Amino acid sequence: MHIDQTEKKWVWITVLMTVVMVGVLTVYAVGNNVHPPSGFEPIDSSRLHLTDEFAEDNLGYKDNGDGTGTLTMVGARYGFYPSTVEVPVGTPVKIRIASADVLHGVHVPYTNFATMIVPGYVSEVNTTFMKTGDYSLLCNEYCGLGHDHMWSRLKVVAQGS
Ligand code: CUA
Repeated sequence: MHIDQTEKKWVWITVLMTVVMVGVLTVYAVGNNVHPPSGFEPIDSSRLHLTDEFAEDNLGYKDNGDGTGTLTMVGARYGFYPSTVEVPVGTPVKIRIASADVLHGVHVPYTNFATMIVPGYVSEVNTTFMKTGDYSLLCNEYCGLGHDHMWSRLKVVAQGS
């Protein structure tokens, strides 16, 4: 097989460039201790209602009995379910939320709770709500015509109430 000299030269230049770029990435990743995100938890968004955890009756806040709680929610066009949730103030809460359809985001103003909700994955956030009051859960990823109306209510209440 005949390969033109110029073509041969460029084949080697391409190989060299690839080796250099992969090398730079490797050195950077190892040097800075960069890892891919861990803890990806896939879930079948079309069958959320058939899972134990995300079935409608099992959504909401649960006391774990050890001073922490778990809040399980579903985001779907156009709302977060349950539409009103109550969590105790000053309590570490693990929030687990999944989308039943498209990409959503959730953001609670005046708190540090914000995450994307990517269909096919469970989003998990650990936070502690420090002030009692009524907050809004807002969708912050455009998800369709009803995006502006996609919100629900979070009540942070006194412990033991
Ligand atoms: Cu859901 Cu925007």
